[in-house]
Amino acid sequence: QVSQGPAAREDDIYDLAYHTPWERWFGAEQTLRVDTSAIRSPMRSLQFCNLRAKDGICDHLRDREGARPSIDTARPDARVHLFLDESQATLYLDTSGESLFKRGWRLDKGAAPIRENLAAGLLALSGWTPSHPLLDPFCGSGTILIEAAWIALGVPPGIARPFGFERLRDHDARRWRELKEEATAAIARRLETPLTGYDIDSAAVEDARENLLRARLTRDAVDFQVGDARTIGAPCQPGWLVTNPPYGERMAAATPDLWYEWSSNLKKHFSGWHVNVITSDFGLPGQLRLKPRRRIPLFNGALDCRLFQFDMVDARYTVKPRTSADPSDQTGPV
Ligand SMILES: C[S@@+](CC[C@H](N)C(=O)[O-])C[C@H]1O[C@@H](n2cnc3c(N)ncnc32)[C@H](O)[C@@H]1O
Repeated sequence: QVSQGPAAREDDIYDLAYHTPWERWFGAEQTLRVDTSAIRSPMRSLQFCNLRAKDGICDHLRDREGARPSIDTARPDARVHLFLDESQATLYLDTSGESLFKRGWRLDKGAAPIRENLAAGLLALSGWTPSHPLLDPFCGSGTILIEAAWIALGVPPGIARPFGFERLRDHDARRWRELKEEATAAIARRLETPLTGYDIDSAAVEDARENLLRARLTRDAVDFQVGDARTIGAPCQPGWLVTNPPYGERMAAATPDLWYEWSSNLKKHFSGWHVNVITSDFGLPGQLRLKPRRRIPLFNGALDCRLFQFDMVDARYTVKPRTSADPSDQTGPV
């Protein structure tokens, strides 16, 4: 936030922008973009408010420095955001640039990838630590496992991406480079424990392997394989399973037995594993016939989700005929 003031009329926005010391952060050598958003603002036209803010910034710089920045809406050096509420205008300078959840390694394809910061958050909530094996049996483009590898190796999440502040006037490029070099030198070389991902779709596995390299990790950092969650065995001794399985009606229609069969496989081959599943399907524990130890509310973008945590504590497994009225359906592993 760079300035704030009362705003009853559009001219108040101009005055606020005009009296903000923009020359500290950018000048005519930078390009500029201004965006406006509002909640309960009495102003008639946000477009006009945006224009008044832009005029205030440009007039201020022209009066101070003899030249004004030009406008570039596609790839500006400086991004200013104007926010209006019932009575106030606030001006912000964007120091991030691209959204902060973007680490700079993701290939922009793949069906329904989870955001990088959500993947890191799921790992933290799951209780996984880098000394334990980790498995994602529905790994898609590999986000959860690649984030886990970065956490385990101590890779700073922003190391591979540009930030908005790098294009501003007071940016100390040399100091920034030194900081990045120091952080890079502290990255561990080897992982202590196996990270494994399976996906039934070979194209998703290819994407995951490509993302691994884009994240500056070696091919052996994560073992990505084509595999069916319903039939895979545990790849190593018990550890953590953290996953974001498919959801939605189309998916359910395509593979109606997926949950029944996956849960049978979990009960048979994953004794001792800590299973963490994020889904928007709140009926999933019932379909898996597992009782969650915890259910943590989370949002995946705008989607209201739960992280269900199950402990596969006992290997005892009996195949029972499937009936919807089966009272054992909700009891889970005993
Ligand atoms: C929601 S996506 C996972 C996205 C992933 N977290 C990412 O960030 O890219 C679900 C994945 O489950 C995979 N899948 C569906 N059925 C499967 C099965 N039976 N076994 C393994 N993977 C399966 C799909 O191919 C899809 O890639």
